[in-house]
Amino acid sequence: MKGKDFVTGLEAGARDIDDLLNLSLKLKKHQKSDAKARPLNGMSVAVIFEKPSTRTRVSFEVGLFQLGAHSVVLSGRDMQLGRGETIEDTGRVLARYCDAIVIRTFEQAKLEALARAATVPVINALSDLYHPCQALADMLTIRERRGNLAGLKLAYFGDGNNVCHSLLLASATAGMNMTVACPADYQPAPAVLAIANKLAIDSGSQIVITDDARAAADKADALYTDVWVSMGQEDEKSARLTALAPYRIDEAILGAAKSDALVMHCLPAHRGQEISAAVLDGPNSVILDQAENRLHAQKALMVMLMKPRGER
Ligand code: CP
Repeated sequence: MKGKDFVTGLEAGARDIDDLLNLSLKLKKHQKSDAKARPLNGMSVAVIFEKPSTRTRVSFEVGLFQLGAHSVVLSGRDMQLGRGETIEDTGRVLARYCDAIVIRTFEQAKLEALARAATVPVINALSDLYHPCQALADMLTIRERRGNLAGLKLAYFGDGNNVCHSLLLASATAGMNMTVACPADYQPAPAVLAIANKLAIDSGSQIVITDDARAAADKADALYTDVWVSMGQEDEKSARLTALAPYRIDEAILGAAKSDALVMHCLPAHRGQEISAAVLDGPNSVILDQAENRLHAQKALMVMLMKPRGER
């Protein structure tokens, strides 16, 4: 994957995901003992946020420090980007200073325009369409607990949003079955579903979309949800809370899954909305592993994508 972007998540095929998860586990295991190993020593990465973040910001910044690289964390508001400079000029200029660009923004098209203009890898730290770094950390969390991904059943509940999209693509690539339980108006984007279905044919996995939450949970290996009102959707709050209420992960949903089913949430969470507090904080929950694994998966991703200046 050297020199590639990671803007949709589709840049990583099944073998790449496998390699990436293996490297993540290695980096995680040797995090302390390999303190002197700095594979990105002397490199610099621009990390741009046009939306708020806790996990993504800290995990990228700490990860780059641990890899020996320097991070330049920028708020979109404080850049000329916020005053009308084009994303293409921003990308071309940043690539003259930095060895990669990480960006959290709104439109996927903007992120892809940045990737076309920049001559260094561009990494999607969340767009309105995808959250591929989250999906990598989630795959890592499931593999750590189950030893594999192929043939497992991941059940996702609620809004068919950017996190759901990236889980669909990653699951279908890795051969994991995924069921999405949601109301008709909150289904994943048809274009993303079409890609996931194609990938699933190749990997032998199954993608199911249903409005039946109980059926989705049946014998699931992992239950996953995300907030119902994402950044920028505050005007739709009341309609969303009403429509999505039947898709809350609660004790009844957990009871329909396998007894050792993993309870997953990318965080931040709203206890009592998309998930009950008892389930989110209960014994099946792996939410803190997911958050920690952002660090390890993103470190592996950057090691796999970034090239020293002399090799470009
Ligand atoms: N899950 C996630 O992306 O968290 P942040 O919004 O805090 O970065």
